[in-house]
Amino acid sequence: MKIREVQGRLKVAAPAKINLFLEIVGKRSDGYHELVTVMQKVSLFDYVFLEDNAEEVLFTCSNSKLSVGEDNLVLRAIRLLQKESKVDKGVKIYLEKNIPMGAGLGGGSSDAVATLFGLNRLWRIGYNEEQLLSLAGELGSDTAFFASGNTAFCKGRGEIVSPCVTKVKCYYVIVYPGFEVSTSVVYKYFKIDLTKKLKDVSLFARLLVSGSVEELGACLFNRLEEVVFRLYPELEKTKKALAQFSFCGTLLSGSGSALYGICRKESDAKEIGRRLKALNIGDVFVVTNDF
Ligand code: C5P
Repeated sequence: MKIREVQGRLKVAAPAKINLFLEIVGKRSDGYHELVTVMQKVSLFDYVFLEDNAEEVLFTCSNSKLSVGEDNLVLRAIRLLQKESKVDKGVKIYLEKNIPMGAGLGGGSSDAVATLFGLNRLWRIGYNEEQLLSLAGELGSDTAFFASGNTAFCKGRGEIVSPCVTKVKCYYVIVYPGFEVSTSVVYKYFKIDLTKKLKDVSLFARLLVSGSVEELGACLFNRLEEVVFRLYPELEKTKKALAQFSFCGTLLSGSGSALYGICRKESDAKEIGRRLKALNIGDVFVVTNDF
């Protein structure tokens, strides 16, 4: 997490993520699904601004649609840190929201982890990365990922994270179709089909180290696409619209609603991004994993 001091406030950049691979390998007794996924942070950021405040926690957000109540993950992160560190200080916290919500881009989780890292600095708690990673894992299924490296293999609910260093520089064009998809609804409708052969993630270990963007693009996979496309047929249409462009591959991110296409060159991504904007199928973001 990048933390800067700007005019007496701490500014923490909270990146979005995309899933390059997502397979569901089982259902657990706690109701969650057992995943194998590859996630990557990309250069689309929310920003969390933090400044000292005597006692109270004051939370505001640039997006009025977001609840700023105790259910918000940012506030849950603050409460968790107060409880664990026994620091009883206040904070004035402002969230600049740029990552679309309900998009499968991990914005809420990333904001929460940015808050943990920022407050650790502001309140001079002194937790190391490992301690912050463990706290992050308590907040959600993909929060631990945001407390670790830029690309990672994740297992369990998503919280068992093995970071991986990749030299493959990718450019992504993300399309947010303008509506949210609820992760819990998607998982509720997902049925494990025992007749289907599970996709193997091990290919990614090599591809991320020494593969080409073309090879990576050909291996993109998300088991949730089928159920999400059944629930939201317009998303399947958007994926078909993306297939008309010269992407190396296209995929739904997480449980949606965002879709993305992958490019080798920034100029290609920018050009496709311009043409997609003209189609009015949603908000378009051109981003990279190289930041
Ligand atoms: O943990 P998180 O808040 O991201 O999950 C949202 C919902 O998605 C959970 O309440 C659960 O219904 C579903 N989920 C799941 N298996 C996972 C992750 C999420 O069933 N591995």
